Amino acid sequence: MNVILIGSGGREHALAWKIAQSPMLTKLYILPGNPGMAAHGENVPIEVGDHAAIVRFAQEKNADLAVVGPENPLAAGLADALLGAGIKVFGPKQAAAEIESSKVFSKDFMSRHAIPTARYAAFTDFQKACDHLGAIDYPVVIKASGLAAGKGVLIPETTADAQDVLRQVMVSREFGAAGEAVVIEERMSGPEVSLLAFTDGTTIRPMVPSQDHKRIFDGDRGPNTGGMGAYAPVPVCPPMLVDELVRTILQPAVDGLRAEGRPFVGALYAGLMLTAGGPRVIEFNCRFGDPETQVILPLLETDLLEIALACAEGRLADVDVRWKAGAAASVVMASGGYPGKYATGLPISGLEVETPDSFVFHAGTKLVDGKVCTGGGRVLCVTGWGADIRAALDAAYARIGKIEFEGAQYRKDIGWRILGGVS
Ligand code: AMP
Ligand code: GLY
Repeated sequence: MNVILIGSGGREHALAWKIAQSPMLTKLYILPGNPGMAAHGENVPIEVGDHAAIVRFAQEKNADLAVVGPENPLAAGLADALLGAGIKVFGPKQAAAEIESSKVFSKDFMSRHAIPTARYAAFTDFQKACDHLGAIDYPVVIKASGLAAGKGVLIPETTADAQDVLRQVMVSREFGAAGEAVVIEERMSGPEVSLLAFTDGTTIRPMVPSQDHKRIFDGDRGPNTGGMGAYAPVPVCPPMLVDELVRTILQPAVDGLRAEGRPFVGALYAGLMLTAGGPRVIEFNCRFGDPETQVILPLLETDLLEIALACAEGRLADVDVRWKAGAAASVVMASGGYPGKYATGLPISGLEVETPDSFVFHAGTKLVDGKVCTGGGRVLCVTGWGADIRAALDAAYARIGKIEFEGAQYRKDIGWRILGGVS
C-alpha cells in the first residue's frame, strides 16, 4: 500500500512509526512530517492546510489510504476533499468532525442521545450568558465553542471571575471566532481517562485507556498545556469499565452520528471524568490524542494499517484488534518557557543513544544545518514500556536522562496519581 500521513507532531510520529512496521506498507509519504519521522517514510513539504496540494499529491502517488492526524484539517473538510477525489481516508468528514470542532453541537448531540455529560447551556449573547450565571447554583467551566488548540476551556473560581472570562471570550474575542458561542457547564470532579476507539462508522473497537497530564508543573500545577505526559493502561479504568463505557458512551455516539447522517470513520476520542455519579463525557475529539497516541500504539499488537484500512472500507467487524500485556508511559520534554514564550533552534544532543524499551517521538523539532534542533513548545515525547507502569516510567526517564537541550523542562511525576508521590 502507498499511504499518506498528514501532520508533523508527536502523535503523527507515533502513527508513522507504527504504520512503518506494517507488512502491508509499500511506501509512506508524510506531509509535512518532522526530522524524526523521516526514519519511517518520505517527508514531503506540503502543509496540512493546503488541501488542494494534498489531494493532488495523493492522486499522483496513487495513495491507497490517507491517515489524517490533527483536528484542524478534518474540521476544514480535508477528508471530504480526499474522498471526493476517490482516495480512502482514515479520519472523519467535516460534518462528523463537528463533534470536536463545535462544543455546542457536541453538547446538544450528547443530550439528544442521552450520553452522560455535565449539565450545560449554550450562548451567543454576552448578557444572556451573564444572566445564566446568576440563575444557577453550581460551579462552572466556560468553554469557547470552536477549536482553540486546547486552550479554550476556562475554570473560574467565583461568579465575578466567570463574568470576566465570558467578557474575554465573547467580547474581547481572545480565542477569535472560536468564542462566537460559549458553553457554560457544570464543573465535575473525579479522575480523568481518555478512551479512544477505532470505528468504521458502525462497529467500534476500543483502544487501551490512557491518562494525560495537562498541567505544565509537577503535582498538576501551573497553566494547561497540550499535554506533558501519559500512561496506559489506567488502573481506575479496568476492562469491565471499558465495556460499560463502550456500551453507554462510545457506541451511542457512533450510532447517533450515523443516524444523523454524519457517519464517523477514524479514531473517536472520549475525554471522560469518573465522577461519584458515574462516568461523564468532558469532550469528544475527532482524532487520536497527543500524547495519548504515543502510549497507545506501542501496546497495539494488531497491524495499524490493517485496522485503518478496514475502518476506511467499512469492515472493521472483520478485524480482531489485539493489545499487548504490560504498560507504556510517555514524558514530554518541552522548551523552557512553554506554554508561554520560548526560543527555538537550540541543538538537541543524545538522540542517538537508543535503548530496547524506549522510543523518542519528535513533537517539535527541525533541522538546522543538518542538526536536529528544537522547533516548537513540546519538543520530544519520550516513551518507555515494560511489564507495568513503574517499569515503563523507569524506561522513559532513563532515556530522558541521556537527552539534553538548553532550557529543557519535563515533569518528573508522570503517573503520580497511581504511584503515590513523585516518581
Ligand atoms: P478539554 O480541553 O475540553 O479537554 O478540557 C481541558 C480540561 O479542563 C479537562 O481535561 C478537564 O480537566 C477540565 N474540564 C473540562 N470540562 C470540565 C468540567 N465540566 N468539569 C471539570 N473539569 C473540566
Ligand atoms: N491530549 C489531549 C488531546 O489530544 O486533546
